Amino acid sequence: MVLSVSKLIQALEPSATMAMAAKAKELKASGRTVYDLSLGEPDFPTPEHICQAAIDAMKAGHTHYTVASGIPELKRAVVEQYKARYGLSYPPQHVVISNGAKHAIHNALVAVLNPGDEVIIPAPYWVSYSELVKLTGAVPVIVHTDESNGFKLTPEAFRAAITPKTRMLLLCTPSNPTGTMYSRQ
Ligand SMILES: Cc1ncc(COP(=O)(O)O)c(C=O)c1O
Repeated sequence: MVLSVSKLIQALEPSATMAMAAKAKELKASGRTVYDLSLGEPDFPTPEHICQAAIDAMKAGHTHYTVASGIPELKRAVVEQYKARYGLSYPPQHVVISNGAKHAIHNALVAVLNPGDEVIIPAPYWVSYSELVKLTGAVPVIVHTDESNGFKLTPEAFRAAITPKTRMLLLCTPSNPTGTMYSRQ
């Protein structure tokens, strides 16, 4: 019997950045000089005090399940950081800890989207956005931007992309990969 994966999984494109990173590793291993700009990772090892804190936490027994939405002390630290940095006040119940941005975006999309809903994504965009939307059964609506206006989504292009099925706009600012930042206006 051939076991096939779901239609949703079949519709996904492999990550272009992951493919580039694998290719860069392969070329490096063959002795070529490669400047790898694919994955957004620091080019230095994790600082010693962070590694030590992880080791100390494990030795202190923090190796078990936590509350699903995150460790209460960590959620309180997030609340304080958002208040200090952005002037935003949220109670800890409004904070959910995730394993990175992909996981957080996936949770947010799954919580809001239904199959057939449309999500407007200005391009160029970070490669996984469209695939994360497809995984919910919703439809990514890619709106192209151009260099002449700093790769910003214009109000006209945004309005033209809106249909009765539009449920969400996925706006990344500052943008990866263009660095474009939207003003409040
Ligand atoms: C704009 C953007 N969103 C999401 C992610 C994914 O982040 P994470 O690795 O924390 O899942 C990245 C990673 O480079 C990113 O650049």
